[in-house]
Amino acid sequence: MDKFEYFSGLPEVGLVPRAPHAGPLLRHVHEQEHGRGGFAGRVSHTYHLYPPNNWLPGETRVLDGWAPLWESPLRPVGGVHHALGVARPPEARDVYRGMARLLANATVAMNVTAPAAPMDYFFEHHSATLVFFVHQGGGTLETLFGPMAYGRGDFLVVPKGVPHRFECAPGPQYYWVYESFAGDPEKSEAPTTGQFITHSRSDYRFPRTLDPRNEAGRFEIVSKVGAVYTRRVHPTHPFDVVGWRGDYLPYRFAVEDVRPLTADRSHVPPSGHTIFTLPGCYLCVFTVRSVEKEGMWLPFFHRNLDYCETIGYHFGDFFSRGGVIREGMVTIHPVGLPHGPQPSALAAFMDERRPAMHNEVGVMADFANPAQISDFALGLSQPDYMKSWGAYTTDPRFVHRPERLAEVRALAEKLAEARDTLRPGSDTS
Ligand SMILES: [Fe+2]
Repeated sequence: MDKFEYFSGLPEVGLVPRAPHAGPLLRHVHEQEHGRGGFAGRVSHTYHLYPPNNWLPGETRVLDGWAPLWESPLRPVGGVHHALGVARPPEARDVYRGMARLLANATVAMNVTAPAAPMDYFFEHHSATLVFFVHQGGGTLETLFGPMAYGRGDFLVVPKGVPHRFECAPGPQYYWVYESFAGDPEKSEAPTTGQFITHSRSDYRFPRTLDPRNEAGRFEIVSKVGAVYTRRVHPTHPFDVVGWRGDYLPYRFAVEDVRPLTADRSHVPPSGHTIFTLPGCYLCVFTVRSVEKEGMWLPFFHRNLDYCETIGYHFGDFFSRGGVIREGMVTIHPVGLPHGPQPSALAAFMDERRPAMHNEVGVMADFANPAQISDFALGLSQPDYMKSWGAYTTDPRFVHRPERLAEVRALAEKLAEARDTLRPGSDTS
């Protein structure tokens, strides 16, 4: 060992040559490059016992109807809000054969899967990087770069092309799955709040336990390119990797490591909770956090004119939904149609019944125009969701009254000089 130790500029595990494409070790192991940007972007190299394209001749074939709900037909979302019930698969299927598409635009799709059968094959997505959110369940994600344990509340990022396999633990499993067709998720950070809000790169967990498999047999790999699923068979285990180096890697990110931005005397907009940006989509986490003081602690009424909003409800009270939403459901709020707090939540705000905490976790993915909804999602849509704001037309405090305008004018007059307590110079002792 050298007298001094150093960090390498690139992560590496196991047996690797001195540099990519260089050194005598390359005459004894087989280098494979995994990269984006046409050899000019992010790259990793894996070093294999056997050539990676040693598939058995004559065994490759297209699999028709392999994951039918993943290709559920899409149609315009239209002008109606949707609340999707929890998906109940008609039969026990594995992570990918049971994948069901909910919503998509040109560059990103949202899917759901509730795997209840083992994967007896390896999978490669050749069209998208996958971002999983584990709403329920856990297990081990085995990848070419090594295994990763995962559980409830974890994001798993599986870059485009990386061979992998889910080994699910016993018990119910339920994942939301985002496909990014045009790029990998980028960590979101604002120039003025720096690299540690709302999370740090140090929260990403990359595999580093390499267990090279020197095994012979029949190993099936299924790839997906658009709607085409193709199976090939290799005579050696695909995880015959003795070492790797690079920064194009799968990783895990726990939702509990999101440290939310909060505000006194105002309200952090949904985009302030962004964790990842993807081409055509941003992904946010609303997590357990303090309720804003002296501000609008409910979501304001809004219409998001360039994005169709989805929220997967993972845990908690879902303060703005007034009890309509249960864990595991997904809402879809189309472009242009206003939404905001349910009447009971707004009433609590107006009555100054302010809780101390937002005790919730929701995963929001907003899809740039135009987004489309699938037939599968429409089949889960709850008929009464649009009625959940119905009290705005029946509750006496919200319905038309002739004296309303005069009342508001009088109140505005009375409150004209009102100031925040938390302002500079006020006595908050
Ligand atoms: Fe919204």
